[in-house]
Amino acid sequence: MTALFADIKGSTELMRDLDPEEARAIVDPALKLMIDAAHSYDGYVVQSTGDGIFALFGAPVAHEDHPQRALHAAIAMRGALRRSGEELKKQGRSGVEFRIGINTGEVVLRMIHTGGHTEYTPVGHAANLAARMQTLAPAGGVVISADTRHLVEGYFELRDLGPTEVKGISEPINVYEVVGAGPLRGHFELAARRGLTKFVGREREVAEMKRALELARGGHGQIVAAVAEAGTGKSRLVYEFKAMLPGKCKVLEAYSVSHGKASAYLPVLELLSGYFGIEGTDDAGRRREKATVKIATLDPALEETLHYLFALLGLQAIPDPLAEMDQQIKRRRILDAIKRIILRESLNQPTIVIFEDLHWIDGETQALLDVLADGVANVRLLLLVNYRPEYSHAWTNKSYYTQLRLAALGRESAGAMLSTLLGDCVELDPLKRMVIERTEGNPFFIEEMVQTLFDEGALVRNGAVKVARSLAQMRLPATVQGILASRIDRLPGQQKELLQTLAVMGRESPMGLIRQVSTTEEPQLDRMLSDLQASEFIYEQPAAGDVEYTFKHALTQEVAYNSLLVERRKGLHERAAVAMESLYAEQLDDHLNELAHHYSRSDNVSKAVEYLGRAGKAAEARNAFKEALESYQQAAALLTKLPESPVRDLRGLELTQSVVRMLEVTSGFSTPETIDARARAQALAEKSGNLTQLDDCKRY
Ligand SMILES: Nc1ncnc2c1ncn2[C@@H]1O[C@H](COP(=O)(O)OP(=O)(O)OP(=O)(O)O)[C@@H](O)[C@H]1O
Ligand SMILES: [Mg+2]
Repeated sequence: MTALFADIKGSTELMRDLDPEEARAIVDPALKLMIDAAHSYDGYVVQSTGDGIFALFGAPVAHEDHPQRALHAAIAMRGALRRSGEELKKQGRSGVEFRIGINTGEVVLRMIHTGGHTEYTPVGHAANLAARMQTLAPAGGVVISADTRHLVEGYFELRDLGPTEVKGISEPINVYEVVGAGPLRGHFELAARRGLTKFVGREREVAEMKRALELARGGHGQIVAAVAEAGTGKSRLVYEFKAMLPGKCKVLEAYSVSHGKASAYLPVLELLSGYFGIEGTDDAGRRREKATVKIATLDPALEETLHYLFALLGLQAIPDPLAEMDQQIKRRRILDAIKRIILRESLNQPTIVIFEDLHWIDGETQALLDVLADGVANVRLLLLVNYRPEYSHAWTNKSYYTQLRLAALGRESAGAMLSTLLGDCVELDPLKRMVIERTEGNPFFIEEMVQTLFDEGALVRNGAVKVARSLAQMRLPATVQGILASRIDRLPGQQKELLQTLAVMGRESPMGLIRQVSTTEEPQLDRMLSDLQASEFIYEQPAAGDVEYTFKHALTQEVAYNSLLVERRKGLHERAAVAMESLYAEQLDDHLNELAHHYSRSDNVSKAVEYLGRAGKAAEARNAFKEALESYQQAAALLTKLPESPVRDLRGLELTQSVVRMLEVTSGFSTPETIDARARAQALAEKSGNLTQLDDCKRY
């Protein structure tokens, strides 16, 4: 998550100099502006005191673009406070001085129930660092840490303030000041700026799009929708398709942004600005002029649409000629004006209108799209849209509508992509396999995973790419984590809870077990499972005498698991274990590892020790000595959490003896570890007065 700390500088001095009421009259409105800015980007305000506010983005509700949201909010705060400061100055009063600090990292949220509602407080270094960052900001400025910069570079304009000493941290850290919003919008544009990986696969989709284009060029307008999970390649497909278009086509483009649902018409405004050639630096007069000229050249008969376009672009003349108009009528005419312009364009040349990321669309833009969708049938128009599966629309039944469901890249395409990223050295084959397996062919995840491996120094490029250190575990890139977590968080509360429960149970969960572990009763449980199946989080498959539910992506399971608060996770592990004990009472020996796994992650230490010990014995009997050693070692370590007692000491002795036995087989009789473990066994035997038991151990 990303933490934002905004401090009203010297507010205590302010309070001292002014009488309390006057001071409040300055500080309170400033606080309100800051809180509103945080809320408008879905921030969670943890605290707002007389000194400032502390807000979280991406927690308790996950958002894939939490760092961007925090920066947008900070920029909005800065703007609002500056404007209010100027207002106050005009009245001869002084505004507040403020500083804002932002940091991204992982935190644990603590839940506090107070008077019927729940509050969250973050615990951890990441939140504290945001508070420290704030002290480094110049007055009226926004400062971010290197961790945040890593995720927002390109989306914002930043100034490097260099390494800076921070109280409480030994090494100086790099800090950056936020200048303003940057040129890039989404991760695809960022990738395009870094340099795109060679395009692979997607032959069928490209062929379908070309077919639709031919029909549209012949006057049979078409709608094509590409639907896929985040990062599968929707934007890339649009990009490749645009590059293939014959010269004489007009392309109009609009994007929705993830925090744009609340801003009406944002994508339409963008489409129009692009169409009229309006630049950020143009003043209102210039903007009006550009629009007027464009419409006059397109078709003088469309001149009457200009009032409506001006209204939309915030360029109305004063007095506003539409001021008296009924809002509903005005809205319809605005939509109609845009539609007429687009249809008129399609008379001049085939026209392609692209709307990306409809899952974030606002209501007004949606209305325009519906109007357009109804009107394309007999014009030279191709309406190209894309969205993630959670979105739906009402055009499915139109004869001129085609939906392309993009799947993740197959092994071959994913392999080809990795070859372009990493080269073809055979030494990298195991790593490539691991990346494909973990990302399941999602091209965005592949790119991010590879980038993270380079960032962490696991891979180095020295001419050719080389593995610098071996990898047992690949860390999940923050971008990927963000996408998956926000997808999970958009589920209705109970479904999310069920998904988390399943995540604790394991990659696969038999129905019989789910019924016992979940607190939801049937038939609601069945319904929720089919909902989770419909939204493609899990799938059902037959298992011995039962059905079982499996996570579609291992990564989703991992993220759902990590999204659980520690206490609840422990509780669920115990419930899962208890359910297994009763369901498999007759075949416990077949489930020792799972039981050991669940109990060792719960608070039930004695059960964990019991099953780890049994799992160790079973492994030893199978000659799986390494596995046995691990179980015994874990059991011995956990045992120390139990209160001291003669029974505990005896158990400790037994386990340590087992550890010694396994070490002798796996590492040798006189290696330091073995000698060490033997000494521990000796000490335990002396302590518990069980030297006879030890004889076994001394036999060698
Ligand atoms: N077929 C492909 N060949 C090579 N690279 C690809 C391919 N498809 C996608 N990529 C790369 O994978 C990354 C993610 O793709 P893209 O941005 O198109 O995903 P998306 O589906 O639009 O995701 P979102 O829903 O988040 O917008 C991009 O960097 C893109 O260049
Ligand atoms: Mg995209």
